[in-house]
Amino acid sequence: MSLEKKIEELKKKRAEAKLGGGLKRIEEQHKKGKLTARERLDILLDEGSFEEFDMFVMHRCRDFGLDKQRIFGDAVVTGYGTIEGRLVFVFSQDFTTFGGSLSEAHAEKICKIMDLAMKVGAPVIGLNDSGGARIQEGVVSLGAYANIFLRNTLASGVIPQISVILGPCAGGAVYSPAITDFILMVKGTSYMFVTGPSVVKTVTHEEVSYDELGGALVHSTRSGVSHFACENEAETLLLTRKLFSFIPLNNMEDPPDKECTDPIDRMDAELNFIVPEEPTKPYDIKDVIKRVVDDGDFLEVHKDYAQNIVVGFARLGGKSVGIVANQPAVLAGVLDIDSAIKGARFVRFCDAFNIPLVVFEDVPGFLPGTAQEFGGIIKHGAKLLYAFSEATVPRLTVITRKAYGGAYDVMNSKHIRGDINYGWPTAEIAVMGPKGAVEIIFKKEIAESPDPEKATEEKLKEFVEKFANPYIAAERGYLDDVIEPKETRPRLIKALSMLETKKDSNPPKKHGNIPL
Ligand code: HXC
Repeated sequence: MSLEKKIEELKKKRAEAKLGGGLKRIEEQHKKGKLTARERLDILLDEGSFEEFDMFVMHRCRDFGLDKQRIFGDAVVTGYGTIEGRLVFVFSQDFTTFGGSLSEAHAEKICKIMDLAMKVGAPVIGLNDSGGARIQEGVVSLGAYANIFLRNTLASGVIPQISVILGPCAGGAVYSPAITDFILMVKGTSYMFVTGPSVVKTVTHEEVSYDELGGALVHSTRSGVSHFACENEAETLLLTRKLFSFIPLNNMEDPPDKECTDPIDRMDAELNFIVPEEPTKPYDIKDVIKRVVDDGDFLEVHKDYAQNIVVGFARLGGKSVGIVANQPAVLAGVLDIDSAIKGARFVRFCDAFNIPLVVFEDVPGFLPGTAQEFGGIIKHGAKLLYAFSEATVPRLTVITRKAYGGAYDVMNSKHIRGDINYGWPTAEIAVMGPKGAVEIIFKKEIAESPDPEKATEEKLKEFVEKFANPYIAAERGYLDDVIEPKETRPRLIKALSMLETKKDSNPPKKHGNIPL
């Protein structure tokens, strides 16, 4: 065969591979409002940057007629490319071929890019759209999944891993995304569950739809499995690019800086009036965050889940930071099981990947009640304490109002290695809120007083004057300074810059035993 003919043959094979399961199935995919594996990569990656591997890989199964259905690529497109010029490895499951199901060969392709990503130190983004284990391959396919799970686990904390769910992700298949750092879902067309609606009906007699059981809304509001829920695929993939812009390529690198056009010495007089005089009145902590960070640009993670804590990425003076903030506008900013877990996971991601932490604190304590105690608030609240305590990245805290009880310790206090801790003049740091405190410590005096109401009021006044301020903590050096709210941005940027060369470490150990 002449070279020309050989090249013709190559081009023909490539064209065939690029069609995956064929035009009819591509049409079906589009009809469902879904893009193909390759169209998705076109949106995710910089134009023309994608280098594909293993386009000609095929499955090796001979059972159930599969020997007669051999399709190039075996239901997944893999390779590497760039996002804003930065290297990333990708896999994109192709639902048009065998429902995107995972065979031995399919998994080998994914493992190949994961192994390379680990060697060169670059993130992996997986676009999931799959019917799960290739049923015809039986246990071989289960083993193939386990090969991926192992790699997800070993890569955790070494390279960032992001899972984008753009179709079905069911059964054991969910455990690969679950181990990765972030999950993004698209409303209406993606779902995740361990057992589907028909099994649920048989076992528990519950009738539930795919979407009600494992859609994007359920996982972004109720279970917390998904960090983002987007309106459509393009939005999901563009958000993935944005998320990528805040994080480093691996655990040995710093996150990428961006040129900062927002003046680093910008004051914001409005911040002086943001905390209401009435201590029980709510305000939105996101107003504080947006007024402080570069250009008001805040990428909130887990926006619709456990909204009493706010976490996400922003930049200060061009440097990527992870923000953790109590939200007085939801449940008074109290810490509960879900918010502690949400906060802890975010803190650990930032610490693993050298992203400094900035905490805004206004917390009345932990949520009381049997639901919380029976649910294990002790062990779950401890997760957040543990995560902050072991974090060695630069850590800044601003107490805007309440810092009560154990929550004061937990929220990045000086005592657990907060580096720079500031309080606004509105800060109140105490073992508990004034009313509760007075009712306990002056119980006898109040009961014996001829006018208990008046006595309570007097004691309350005394207590508030003594404790509802930042100066007792500042006197001890638990706060490094009491700052005017308007100067928060420049003060934080200066502190971050001072901490740029910070080095701290934990004692050598195999690994800690975070209360799971
Ligand atoms: C082989 C599969 C497949 C699978 C789908 N297909 N899932 N082939 N193995 N797991 C094939 C279908 O036979 C069909 O081929 C084509 O893909 C498209 O599937 P449809 O059913 O026509 O599509 P749709 O109606 O959109 O339904 C999608 C679906 C459904 C909901 C995902 O296909 C489904 O329920 N699949 C099985 C899901 C499942 O139970 N997987 C195993 C989970 S357990 P043809 O040629 O007919 O068009 C698991 C274990 C992991 O994954 C273990 C790790 C520990």
